Parts: sequence; structure tokens; C-alpha cells
Amino acid sequence: MSEFHALVPAAGFGARMGIELPKQYLDLAGQPMIWHAISTLCACPDIKTVFVVLAPGDEYFARYDWSHCGDKLVTLYCGGTTRAASVANGLLASELEADDWVLVHDAARPCLTQALLNKMIAELRDDAVGGILAVPVADTLKRADAQQRIACTEPREGLWQAQTPQMFRAGLLAEGLARCSNVTDEASAIEALGLQPKLVASDSSNFKVTYPQDIVLAELLLNKKM
Ligand code: CTP
Ligand code: MG
Repeated sequence: MSEFHALVPAAGFGARMGIELPKQYLDLAGQPMIWHAISTLCACPDIKTVFVVLAPGDEYFARYDWSHCGDKLVTLYCGGTTRAASVANGLLASELEADDWVLVHDAARPCLTQALLNKMIAELRDDAVGGILAVPVADTLKRADAQQRIACTEPREGLWQAQTPQMFRAGLLAEGLARCSNVTDEASAIEALGLQPKLVASDSSNFKVTYPQDIVLAELLLNKKM
């Protein structure tokens, strides 16, 4: 029986947040941002290990109390210069079996719920390829010209926004990332192998905290959840 593991890339600096502290350590509802996703992943009974990929010189992570995660939590100080490099390095260091499932989840998506996690695992555990959480695009899409005027309206039918977790077999994902390193998500690396990951319907609460204005909404959702 193949196992389920999580891998959390957390070696970024959060440039778009515009502060010196890497955004994954920003206080959100009384805990560092990264605490929320890690705690949700560790609380999932199906998930055996939660690997966290940190920047080699990270001096923040070890300052917090992770005792509630027990032996499930494993830190890997091997982050790279891009998200894809951090995931590829983490996969290598994790020494997972090729057919183990790995759920890659952004440290910057603190509002992931146990319900979404369980739904994803249930929908994909017997899938040949794997897949990702995603939401159908809700807004009308405009393409801009060089003057920031509307060049045209793009049809949104069939368009989805990718989220994480993204769940694939560890061997397949490592192969995809080795072949194609300039990707912004894991699914793109699997697509480059000619495969079609499944879209598992999520909701907008699992958004990525990117800009300062995202913090208020994340705190509202987290305070409701806790
Ligand atoms: N990440 C990583 N290694 C990198 C870059 C990003 O592990 N070299 C991680 C981030 O820590 C985050 C996730 O990938 O958990 C999603 O990336 P993003 O939201 O873009 O975070 P940052 O890259 O830190 O932010 P920014 O792009 O604004 O600099
Ligand atoms: Mg980034």
C-alpha cells in the first residue's frame, strides 16, 4: 500500500508582501502563517509525514513550538532559489518511495481545511495521474494592451485557478520537475510529461496570502476556524 505524505515549500521571502520578515512567519491569528497549514496537514490521519522545506539559513522556524505535530513533522533545510527548486530538493531529501503520494502545499495558504484535504485524497487516491485543488474562474477576464487599456475580453469557460495541495506520486513528480524546472506549480511539470492531472473542485477560502491586503481576510477565516 502506498502512503500519503505532505511537502510544504517554505523557502520563499515573500517579496510581494513588502516586509523584511519572510511572509510565512507573519503573525496570523496568534501564530506564524506557516503554523496553520502545517497543523492542518499534521492533523490529517491519512498523512504519515509532513516535510517542510526551509531556506538553508532559516533562523525562524525553530523558534516556534511544534510539539503538537509530534514525529510527523520533518524539517529539511534545502530550499532552492525558486519554488520548483525547493520542491525538487525536498522530494530528493525526503527519500520517499516512487509510488508514495505526495501532497505539495504552499506555506502561504493557511486557510486549507480538513474537509478540502479529505475531499482531495478521496477523489484522487485511486487516480492514475493525481491532481490539484482548483476553482472555476468567476470573474470576467480582460486582456490588457501596453497602455493598460482593454485589448479584448477573454472567454472564461473551462478556466480554473490552480491552488494547492497538488497531489502526485513522488516518483512521477520528481521526474517531471527534473525535466521541466521553470514551472510555477507541480501540475505543470506533470503536464509536461504529457499527462492530464484532475481538477478537484475547491473554494476561494483556500487562497494564497500574497499581498498585505490578504492578511485581514485570512485572519477572519482563521479566527472562525479555530
Ligand atoms: N517558495 C519556496 N522557495 C522559493 C520560493 C517560494 O519554497 N524559492 C514557497 C513559499 O515559501 C510559499 C510557496 O512557495 O510557501 C508559494 O510561493 P509564493 O506565495 O510566491 O511565496 P514567495 O515566493 O515567498 O512570495 P513572493 O513571490 O511574493 O516573493
Ligand atoms: Mg513567489
